[in-house]
Amino acid sequence: MNRLIIQTQVTKGHIRKDIQGQFSEHLGRCIYGGLYVGEGSEIPNVNGMRTDVVEALKEIRLPALRWPGGCFADEYHWKDGIGPRETRKKMVNTHWGGVTEDNSFGTHEFFELCRQIGCDAYVNGNVGSGTVQEMNEWVEYMTFDGVSPMANLRKENGHEEPFPVKYFAMGNEPWGCGGNMTAEYYADEYRRYQTYVRQYGKNKIYKIAAGANSSDYHWTETLMKSAGRMMDGFSLHHYTIPHDWNHKGRALGFTEEDYFITLKNALFMEELIRRHSAIMDQYDPEKRVGLIVDEWGTWYDVEEGTNPGFLYQQNSMRDAMVAALTLNIFNKHCDRVHMANIAQLVNVLQSMILTEGPRMLKTPSYYVFKLFMDHQENELLESHMEAPVLEKYGVRLPALQESSSIAPDGTVHVTLVNPSLRDSQELCIETQGIKPRRVVGRMLFGGAEDHNTFDEPDIVADQPFVSFTVNENGLTAELPPCSVVHLAIK
Ligand code: AHR
Repeated sequence: MNRLIIQTQVTKGHIRKDIQGQFSEHLGRCIYGGLYVGEGSEIPNVNGMRTDVVEALKEIRLPALRWPGGCFADEYHWKDGIGPRETRKKMVNTHWGGVTEDNSFGTHEFFELCRQIGCDAYVNGNVGSGTVQEMNEWVEYMTFDGVSPMANLRKENGHEEPFPVKYFAMGNEPWGCGGNMTAEYYADEYRRYQTYVRQYGKNKIYKIAAGANSSDYHWTETLMKSAGRMMDGFSLHHYTIPHDWNHKGRALGFTEEDYFITLKNALFMEELIRRHSAIMDQYDPEKRVGLIVDEWGTWYDVEEGTNPGFLYQQNSMRDAMVAALTLNIFNKHCDRVHMANIAQLVNVLQSMILTEGPRMLKTPSYYVFKLFMDHQENELLESHMEAPVLEKYGVRLPALQESSSIAPDGTVHVTLVNPSLRDSQELCIETQGIKPRRVVGRMLFGGAEDHNTFDEPDIVADQPFVSFTVNENGLTAELPPCSVVHLAIK
């Protein structure tokens, strides 16, 4: 039988809650329509933020939100998004559909959204087309608590107190849409821009350098060598696509083979983290600098009939499996991975929520975050899975995958993934060091293509998991095919 050994007295690192962070870009219907509808909307809102969406995000304890991009960040000029909305300058969102951006959602609105959700702010600055002065003034505007031109402007715009900026990034994808720079050139730019991101008062900004495109290890080597000591975090972008960038494949209507290839491609995250971390270790052996996976998730061809620049895709159990496998990988690498932001929160790529006018639905990926949220701020536990390899269509996947952590109150949390589409898996879990008194389980399961629609929004949702028996040494459980299970063991 498959066996999971958890050493409940051996901890391996702290799982920062921000590993479960999200990303919201001015792209398609993520901000406008998805998160923000404006005070005048008939859709219930508080200060313009959709109440249904905010409530759903509070339920999964969304810890940190990245904004305003993405590629958009390097074309964004923050001063266009402050002051009276009717006089804000409009711009063309050249990256995403060529639509007019009216800047009605700007700095104040973003912090209002974070306040309502109860999450930390991750602001992405503009290096590609912005100036050092512009970035310097934005930080002063947001965080200076005293008398200064920018702090006074913020107060004139109705916000007396500074805004809490936890994370700030210097540019996005400078190797591509953020300016097509070489690693060497960007390293110098990073050093210069970050110099003027000042720390004011009690607000301590965690500075993030833009990292590699997937397996570009030269980028990491160059940046760490030149600027490692000037950064707190270093990002990594990696998307899971079933085929290739020209023909990514569909969100629904995929084959069983596509399913296994997608999961295999998602598991590549493990190798990426291992290899980028190994380079970072050479320059930062104490692991002070965090690896920030601030864009990850599935990317398919857009849904037929939708604007190709809006990156709208449905979300099925296949996406749920990708999310669960990836979050387990992040947990296992919590010594280096300080934050991650799945792309994106609403209506774009691998979303938590889809909306259509006043209607909204929670996707299978949303429920994975719900099953994982009890890992937030726990200590990772030493654990070892003994399970065979699942081989299908030439793809090799672990028959079972997991991560385990211990909460401050002593509860052990285990998240398990069974990727098989046909076979349930029996698992014997040994909780070395504790005899379970009470076990509570929840799960998500279904067929690979199962998904929620606006007419049937509850086809996939988390539900109680009761297929287990507690014994002296732990428990035995039976995990259904294509499932994600969370166990809370006391
Ligand atoms: O998430 C969509 C886009 O993907 C982002 O804007 C960009 O950073 C990445 O290429």
